[in-house]
Amino acid sequence: MRLPDSFLDDLRSRLSLSHVVGKKVVWDMRKTNQARGDWWAPCPFHQEKSASFHVLDDKGYYYCFGCQAKGNVFKFVQETENVSFIEAVEILAREAGMPMPARDPKAAERSDRRTELAKVTEEATRWFRLQLSTGAASDARAYLDRRGLNAATLDTFEIGFAPKTSDALLTALEGKGISWDLIEGAGLALTDDDGRRRDRFINRIIFPIRDPRGRVIGFGGRAMNPNSPAKYLNSPETELFDKGANLYNLRSARAAAGKGAPLVVAEGYMDVITLHQAGFESCVAPLGTAVTERQLQMMWKVTPEPLIALDGDAAGQKAGLRVADLALPLIAAGQSLRFAILPEGMDPDDLIRAKGRGAMQSVLDGARPMLSLLWSRETEDKVFDSPERRAMLDQSLRALLGKIADSSLRRHYGQEVARLRADLFGLPRDAPMAPLPDPVPDMPPDPGPPPEDAPRAYVQKAPARRPWVPKGQFRGRASLPQPAATATRASPLAQGTLSPDTLLEQVGLAGLVLHPGLIDDFAEALEGMTWSRDDHERIAGALLRLPDGLDRPGAFEELSRSLGEETLDYLLAQPQIRISPVARPGADQEHARPCIHDAFTRLAARRGADRERVEAMEDFADGADEAMTWRLAQATQRKEAARKTAQQNEGTSEDGDAADKDYLQGLLDTRVWEKSRNK
Ligand code: UTP
Ligand code: MN
Repeated sequence: MRLPDSFLDDLRSRLSLSHVVGKKVVWDMRKTNQARGDWWAPCPFHQEKSASFHVLDDKGYYYCFGCQAKGNVFKFVQETENVSFIEAVEILAREAGMPMPARDPKAAERSDRRTELAKVTEEATRWFRLQLSTGAASDARAYLDRRGLNAATLDTFEIGFAPKTSDALLTALEGKGISWDLIEGAGLALTDDDGRRRDRFINRIIFPIRDPRGRVIGFGGRAMNPNSPAKYLNSPETELFDKGANLYNLRSARAAAGKGAPLVVAEGYMDVITLHQAGFESCVAPLGTAVTERQLQMMWKVTPEPLIALDGDAAGQKAGLRVADLALPLIAAGQSLRFAILPEGMDPDDLIRAKGRGAMQSVLDGARPMLSLLWSRETEDKVFDSPERRAMLDQSLRALLGKIADSSLRRHYGQEVARLRADLFGLPRDAPMAPLPDPVPDMPPDPGPPPEDAPRAYVQKAPARRPWVPKGQFRGRASLPQPAATATRASPLAQGTLSPDTLLEQVGLAGLVLHPGLIDDFAEALEGMTWSRDDHERIAGALLRLPDGLDRPGAFEELSRSLGEETLDYLLAQPQIRISPVARPGADQEHARPCIHDAFTRLAARRGADRERVEAMEDFADGADEAMTWRLAQATQRKEAARKTAQQNEGTSEDGDAADKDYLQGLLDTRVWEKSRNK
């Protein structure tokens, strides 16, 4: 019942807190200043001899300096009388001589109606239970026996039976004076096509469903005859029964989980019941519908990491992925899922009955983290034998990571994805990782392009291949080695494996690493940029923190110290850096300046059109159609236009544009390839 604020304010102003508290404590009058409404006493909430319990009348608040108990007058009565808020209000209103406000008639009506419906479902539950012990239920008892349920389990889950007579329950309930309106409203009976009133559940095993408050809100009914058109029939949604906002067995699962058992989420009633009988008492199931967000939240209130039990077949896999996709935006530290994958074609009930609880325990022990499941979807049975396909994978991974709302978790997932991805592409695990990974070059830039027939298939178990990263090569050097003549063709730019953003960021950053005297001029760009990779962000930060006046070797030493050698070596070993003007031997600051400026200007221009591209990419991951392909082409065009403008203003070079276009074109081509293959 919701009370109007005005009533509560009124009530509070008529009572003095010290008067209410004074009935429970003995004031320390030496410490107390009565005139100022400043009262002290030994605390009623913990044992003490001194007076650390403080009441301030004008604020209406109490606070104990010993046990930190605090609150207002309602809280005080709740705590000392052990009553609910409403009851505390009632007690105080009586004391103040204020009548309680009338209940909101609409709300009262609704709640009364639900109470009435719950009485009907309770009555029905009792009746179904009774039917199971009648002669008419011998088949049902035999069925339950075959399914291995013992008497204690039948009791615990209040399993019942709806007989063959089509209006047996209806007659019984009406016989108790219950109205048709309530019986129908509880979902227990209906009017069929011929206009006849009849029971909803006929000749079925009945599983009553209780909510956490203990009310029976609905029923599941299982046919015993395998030829029955519907194996399970459930109560319809009613004023009591919200299928998406309840879970089967939640109340007792919560109690068991409270004692430390992991929460297992199964698919069906029978799974929960068999799990429980086998000692896995902390288990729930959705109510005949797919898992909802509400249900995930309910599970997370029970435990930080519920275990979703999945059938090992394709359908189970799909169901699991659906749950994972639903959970992805909601996960946070201490709020995730694991997936326990059962042998193909088996649910927990099948497994326990066939192989015992030990087999079930091993399945639960081997539960996979959510990321593992999602990673399999992105990579299993796929071949990554071209830059375009690898770029496609990166796009899906990016889209996936982008769905995680919690930024710290997104970062951890990003790192794990980067690691998995390095393994998949045969890159070293210590290659710099990015939260939203870009591919790192997977071919040595030297010596020249690979032969046409070179094996380039990166399938899941491809042997590890170390990329060419010259360790420590540039430390303290004042110039860079001359690039090989063929480096351009083998560069990631030509291969299209690195995104243009990454390439441009690397040019700008490497330029400043090699020409630290320019850092001041580009400080604004460094500060304002959104970096596509973690290591880039770190490099930018380190550049901004460099002390003034360092020469190239001095700056290099300082940066190596703060960033680690690997990071700088990796950056400077990039083929496009080796051939760029910033790194040309003898290039001085004034040669490098326009090149760095160019890189940052292009990045700014690209970021202007970024939103469209991101949107387009996201759609891509969800399965593109014609409209999508069109949109992507449009985005490419618009980006072209944006870049031309930037070019006119700044006079930029050609490579980045071409790479950008190639990149998007590559994606289009890949998509086209996928489509034709699917036909
Ligand atoms: P399953 O088909 O996996 O059945 O449906 P089950 O739980 O293994 O049941 P048994 O072992 O054959 O008795 C899983 C859940 O999907 C809902 C029910 O909630 C069921 O528990 N369901 C299934 C329906 O609502 N209607 C159906 O016809 C089938
Ligand atoms: Mn089953």
